[in-house]
Amino acid sequence: MHAQKILNACKKNLIDLDEEIILILKAIGQNLSIIIEGESGTGKTELAKTVAAALKRPFYRVDGDENLTITQLRGWFDPALVIESGFGEDSFIPGPLTLAMLNGGLFFFNEVNRAPSESINGALSAMDSRERSIEIPQYKNIEAEYGFYTIFTLNPSEYIGTNPLPEAFFDRCIRIYLSHKTGKDAEKIVKLRTSCTDSELIQKCVLFTEKTRLNSNFERGASIRAAIQLTQLLMDGVSDDNRILLTINAVFSGKIKLQPDISRSVEECLEEIAEEVFFVNRPKN
Ligand SMILES: Nc1ncnc2c1ncn2[C@@H]1O[C@H](COP(=O)(O)OP(=O)(O)OP(=O)(O)O)[C@@H](O)[C@H]1O
Ligand SMILES: [Mg+2]
Repeated sequence: MHAQKILNACKKNLIDLDEEIILILKAIGQNLSIIIEGESGTGKTELAKTVAAALKRPFYRVDGDENLTITQLRGWFDPALVIESGFGEDSFIPGPLTLAMLNGGLFFFNEVNRAPSESINGALSAMDSRERSIEIPQYKNIEAEYGFYTIFTLNPSEYIGTNPLPEAFFDRCIRIYLSHKTGKDAEKIVKLRTSCTDSELIQKCVLFTEKTRLNSNFERGASIRAAIQLTQLLMDGVSDDNRILLTINAVFSGKIKLQPDISRSVEECLEEIAEEVFFVNRPKN
């Protein structure tokens, strides 16, 4: 498909990411691997999936965790079939990396920093723009078909407790950093995802969410996901303060984290923000 058409298809589903889409399309054209980095809810998965859908390529997704092995990525031999027919095509069960290579699709590795570095090391030759192949022990060397490309996501604030990624991994990738969308762009995202027509409500839900990220009581604020959920739950026109507070607590309490030295409860801190955003005309008690 023509690059402009792909860009237009992506733009329909992504707000304010035009430059990132163009960069990704250029990188794919040059067989470069891509890391999309950003905090939770910044649109990493949506960006990767949208580009894959616009390119109309098969999509193979893996989520990183500490038990992920290179065998799971590459594929493995079915013991019963090996006894029957030996090591070969008939007994080999391809993993997502091999499938993406054979079918010229996207290998999408979500949260790569949660996976052991040994498994990532095993995928390096596939990611390399010159090699684009992997060796399957006791079988053969798999060469990637045209159209194979790799996108990884990682959340920098989740490095603690996860594996440091090998230098060779970063060396083979270009890195695109996504930050939280704010203001009008964030409102456009919420409108796109909820189809809510009440622009005042969307504005309030976005503002509330942004305030949780800026509030000094919180070590971690909430992402656009919270603004989307809050809008979805309030778009039936609820105006009762207690119900709004209950909904705010339901949406935000599991997503935000208080600073360790704060003696107030999460509920109290959230109510304070609600007063600034939703209950501006309520008399203070
Ligand atoms: N720029 C954007 N345009 C359209 N929708 C967006 C954008 N950014 C975020 N979203 C929406 O916000 C939500 C969160 O995005 P997404 O799931 O891609 O985040 P993520 O960065 O992958 O988060 P996590 O690290 O938690 O997996 C989704 O509903 C997504 O559609
Ligand atoms: Mg994601």
